[in-house]
Formats: sequence, C-alpha cells, structure tokens
Amino acid sequence: MKKVEDYVRSIPDFPEPGIIFRDVTSILQDADGLQLAIDEMQHFVEEVDCDVICGTESRGFIFGMPIAYNLHKPFVPIRKKGKLPLETVEESYDLEYGSATIEMHKDSIKPGQKVVIIDDLIATGGTVEACAKMIERLGGEVTRIVFLMELAGLKGREKLAKYDVKSVIRYD
Ligand code: PRP
Ligand code: ADE
Repeated sequence: MKKVEDYVRSIPDFPEPGIIFRDVTSILQDADGLQLAIDEMQHFVEEVDCDVICGTESRGFIFGMPIAYNLHKPFVPIRKKGKLPLETVEESYDLEYGSATIEMHKDSIKPGQKVVIIDDLIATGGTVEACAKMIERLGGEVTRIVFLMELAGLKGREKLAKYDVKSVIRYD
C-alpha cells in the first residue's frame, strides 16, 4: 500500500536555486493520496483538546478546512495582509525564501479557546510562529500544531520549541 510520502513530488531549484520544493498538488490530484493525507493529519488533531482549527493562506486552508469539517469544529482562516475586512491583529515574519505579513480577525478567537494550527509544511517555522503569536494575543491557547511535511534541516521545530508539534512526513 502506498504511503502519503509516495504522493509528494519534489522539484529541485523552485522557486529559487537551491530550494527543493515539496509539491502538494501531486497529493491533492490523487483521491487516495488526498484522503490519506487528511486522515493522518486528522488523527493528530483528534488526540488533543481543540475548540477551533486555524489554517494559514493558502496551503493551510487546503488541509485545515476538511479536518475542521470532519471534526465539526470552526475554521479560522489566517490570511495574507490586506484581505480581511474587519479589525485584525497582524504579524510579519521571514520564510525559507522571502518574507510576509499575515493577519486574522480580532473576533475570530475567544479568550480561553483551545486552538490547533494546521499547515502543509514547516520550513523555518516563521509562518506558524507568527500564527501562534496572534492566537495568543487574542487569548487563545495553542494545544497542537500539525503539519503534513517537516523540512527538519531548517530547524523550524526549534522556533516552535514551546509547542506540541506533529508532522506526518519528515525530510532530513
Ligand atoms: C509556505 C507553506 C507554509 C510556509 C512554510 O507558504 O505553505 O505556510 O511557507 O514556511 P516557514 O516554515 O518558513 O514559515 P507560502 O507563504 O509559500 O504561501 P502559500 O501557501 O500561499 O504557497
Ligand atoms: N515553503 C517553504 N519552503 C518550501 C519548500 N521547500 N517546499 C514547499 N513549500 C515550501
């Protein structure tokens, strides 16, 4: 039987020389790969207390939303700056390539809510660290962070040392 990592395509030198791009489209375009990826991530969510699932634009939406739907939890989209219409909190951070600012609505997390963050991949950990900071500023508690893929060589886990981090696939 195929494992979820068998569905990932790795593309050298995209989007910049030296980067090995771990492509999720090859998982999504296969019904078995898609189901396996969601199921394996969802198991990690089911193990912890969770009132709300947060996912980051855009690949965090792809994996976070079906899990929220399956577990009957609300889903909070964390978006790239300038897309949300109401009052927001925001954070800026650096990535494996480039930098970004993300934001979320101030009313999307209630104080005391337990939050699981979902994303497709951890590289430097900057994106999810920024998410966790915003969630905590709004009074939420991050009970777990779940990734499909972990680029272990970039040591993103060190940035997230105070959190419970799980990943389905690890690349050394
Ligand atoms: C990618 C990926 C993660 C983040 C990981 O998103 O989906 O969110 O980078 O990198 P980090 O651990 O160094 O923060 P990207 O910002 O490229 O946006 P996309 O999902 O819209 O492609
Ligand atoms: N986001 C940051 N680094 C990445 C990589 N190497 N592959 C896919 N997405 C990424």
